[in-house]
Amino acid sequence: MQFVTGLQCRECGKTYPKEPLSVCEFCFGPLEVIYDYQTIKKVLDRDIVEKRKPNMWRYSELLPLDKAPQVGSDVGFTPLIKADNLAKRLGIKKLFIKNDSVCYPTLSFKDRVVSVALSKALEFGFETVGCASTGNLANSVAANSASVGLKSYVFIPSDLETGKVIGSLIYKTEVIRINGNYDDVNRLCSEIAGKHHWGFVNINLRPFYAEGSKSHGFEIAEQLQWRAPDCIIVPMAGGSLITKIGKAFGEMERLGLISNNHCRIYGAQAAGCSPITTALKSNQDFIKPVKPQTIAKSISIGNPADGYYAIQTMQKSKGWGEDVTDDEIVSGIKVLAEDEGIFTETAGGVTVAVTKKLVQQGRIKKDDLTVISITGNGLKTQEAIENHLIKPLVINAKLSEFEKTVNTVQNVA
Ligand SMILES: Cc1ncc(COP(=O)(O)O)c(C=O)c1O
Ligand SMILES: [Zn+2]
Repeated sequence: MQFVTGLQCRECGKTYPKEPLSVCEFCFGPLEVIYDYQTIKKVLDRDIVEKRKPNMWRYSELLPLDKAPQVGSDVGFTPLIKADNLAKRLGIKKLFIKNDSVCYPTLSFKDRVVSVALSKALEFGFETVGCASTGNLANSVAANSASVGLKSYVFIPSDLETGKVIGSLIYKTEVIRINGNYDDVNRLCSEIAGKHHWGFVNINLRPFYAEGSKSHGFEIAEQLQWRAPDCIIVPMAGGSLITKIGKAFGEMERLGLISNNHCRIYGAQAAGCSPITTALKSNQDFIKPVKPQTIAKSISIGNPADGYYAIQTMQKSKGWGEDVTDDEIVSGIKVLAEDEGIFTETAGGVTVAVTKKLVQQGRIKKDDLTVISITGNGLKTQEAIENHLIKPLVINAKLSEFEKTVNTVQNVA
């Protein structure tokens, strides 16, 4: 059954058919997928969702495909972990981690958006796909394209971490490194998309692609026994994920899957690339583009496409946005690993460190049921922390040497 009625401009409301389009031809506003909620309400309830397989497609009525997914049928339903140790450290009582650092198959939430985008690319008949990426998206496009035999091109800034580069090359995609930052990459890709008949997941397929992020929010509410949290902290690059989490909770309430959604949505950025939180804090809805300068490369987007909508999501939900320094990002990565056994990448360090700041500011209260969105895996950004860890001891394979070492270590401790 098909539940998408078409696309609609977020600004002027003009409607468009389901086609690979992303921008309104009248006002240049972004296009958004529109659903027939009345019909969805008749066919979707909690029992039906709970009986389905544990992956993101248990919410297929709220995802924009016309056929069964042809890509990424096992993506999603990542763990929601009760994080008591980190909660204690932060001084709050009810903390959960939504752990997309173990999302299948490429260890970031981007597998959610890419499954939708590439399934849609196949529905539209594209034979070649591409993306402009800060790393994780490239990994996911490369892997998921390989799994269905689509030809793919991924475009990345030239200074990405080795894990992100190898994490694309291995799938035999065409990796194009651009001398410049993400905004340069994105500009070039828009020009290429205008010339070649390719499915660019975050350009001409963007309205469909972005909807995949809602599944991160749907799962959180279901895993909390069908309720939205009081607070959620979400990393922001282009500002799409945070906007779609807001949309997800709103849709669930509208469909009666949850009630009383009062979730305050908080956005997290690195101080070295904080165009969205800077605009929010200075009470402007105009985003001034910046040149990124931070270790958090995955969220280094100086000119965020959905920044304006991210601000609206934070303001309307009575949330807020904060940014943190590179040192705070490193500590964020370390405390999540030490307290909860989760190794996240730099974006996760940002989110944890911003959560700490928001608790200190009194914005997140002791009794708030709080969720931190962890969206990527630390094994991909090892450069960020390798000089911040104690070097392992090296000894000869002799019991006497080990005993001496143990005594020294115990004495130091
Ligand atoms: C790990 C990680 N988290 C969060 C984001 C932010 O996503 P968005 O561009 O939807 O704000 C990205 C974007 O690339 C990412 O790689
Ligand atoms: Zn318009």
